[in-house]
Amino acid sequence: MNRVFIRTYGCQMNERDSEAVAALLRARGYRIVQDEAACDVLLLNTCSVRDAAEQKAIGKAANVAQQRKRNPRFILGILGCMAQNRGAALLDALPDVDLIVGTQKFHQVPDYLDNLRAAQAAGTPLGSTIVDIAEEAGSQNTIRDHVLEDKQVTAFVSIQQGCNMDCSFCIVPKTRGDERSRPMDEIVRECEELADRGVREVTLLGQIVTSYGRRDYAHTDGVTPFVQLLTRVNAIPGIKRIRFTSPHPRGFKDDLIQAYGRLEKLCEYVHLPLQSGSDQILKAMNRPYSRDRYRQIVDDLRRVRPDMYFSTDIIVGFPGETEEDFAQTRELFEACNYDMAYIFKYSIRTGTPAATMAVQVPDEVKEARNQALLAILGANSTRRNATLLGTTQEVLVEGPDKKGFGYMGRTRGNRIVHFAATERLISELVPVQIERASTAVLYGSLALAGVPN
Ligand code: 5AD
Repeated sequence: MNRVFIRTYGCQMNERDSEAVAALLRARGYRIVQDEAACDVLLLNTCSVRDAAEQKAIGKAANVAQQRKRNPRFILGILGCMAQNRGAALLDALPDVDLIVGTQKFHQVPDYLDNLRAAQAAGTPLGSTIVDIAEEAGSQNTIRDHVLEDKQVTAFVSIQQGCNMDCSFCIVPKTRGDERSRPMDEIVRECEELADRGVREVTLLGQIVTSYGRRDYAHTDGVTPFVQLLTRVNAIPGIKRIRFTSPHPRGFKDDLIQAYGRLEKLCEYVHLPLQSGSDQILKAMNRPYSRDRYRQIVDDLRRVRPDMYFSTDIIVGFPGETEEDFAQTRELFEACNYDMAYIFKYSIRTGTPAATMAVQVPDEVKEARNQALLAILGANSTRRNATLLGTTQEVLVEGPDKKGFGYMGRTRGNRIVHFAATERLISELVPVQIERASTAVLYGSLALAGVPN
């Protein structure tokens, strides 16, 4: 009765939260299972950033609730952003959910499951749902434990929770609360421990990582706490690569730009959310930068690292977005030559300022704009991969691939590469000569000089 299956929707922060919950549950004697059909407890860790994400989780929960009716010992929980956003109101649509736990209470899940199981064991019908979506001071420090698979090479490290930016489209300040950072020493220690356990690449996570520690630590010689943190992680011998997500363009001051020239482990891949290329729309979105300023950041970064890879987030069909606004977005999107992009159709989020803006854009228009950007992205990505043909790339070997090509790893630019290797190269940085490329994936072989395979 203690087999738990966790299904995660949404971003890397959610994946990381699920992993921390799994670690706590394991420590409490629960078993984390990979097979949904074999679980007694099903936890859905949810996303609220767009309506589609909420609907997906609600649909899933409704299905599982049917199953739960047949098995009175089954426990169904909804965790994370949608739990926080909707709270007990979820019970209107989903009366059979046993547990609703918000984003500041993940660490309470083991206690709540213990309580539910004790009630079941005592023969008490569960009846009432446990709902906890309260705020909790210090909750950012509870996302800390890891469940590492055998020979796991990469890991996410949560450095901060919440966001104070108030972008007019965004529900995240509501679901994740105010910005709160973890102590720098604890983050560094966590990275050191991960390195001791074999991890070679860390991705530092937060809703707005560039604001990390801004209320807790002073700048040192013009260096922000975030860049101080990067510098310290860069100094950990076992860590070979550093990534982070998501930053805000306003965080790309000189110290961060220079960090790309100074910190050899900081990968030349930047996720830099643009959202819109129209100054008018950026203003309506309450994004505090202009298209020119954004372009300047891209150029500055390319000056420090000419081989820099960029990805971005774009919202098409924000209220009031005209053809002219979209033309501006398309133009800047093309000029930035992104290697990867996440393009979203604007989705009304109740309670945000944009939800009540007068001119909502019809869905067909959003769809057409979405397709236009996707076409540009496909062409860019293919072109970039073609330039890699014949080159030798440093690849961090992650493990066997699932396609039967042998092994897989990533370049510093975050391109997936498939190649033949052996198990003992897992977690090593190896040179791989790129021989074939599709839009998304590269294929190559070990460039053997000096590398025993
Ligand atoms: N509609 C569509 N996309 C959104 N995002 C955030 N809120 C919305 C919304 N209401 C996108 C932004 C953000 C990414 C995580 O999700 O592009 O960067």
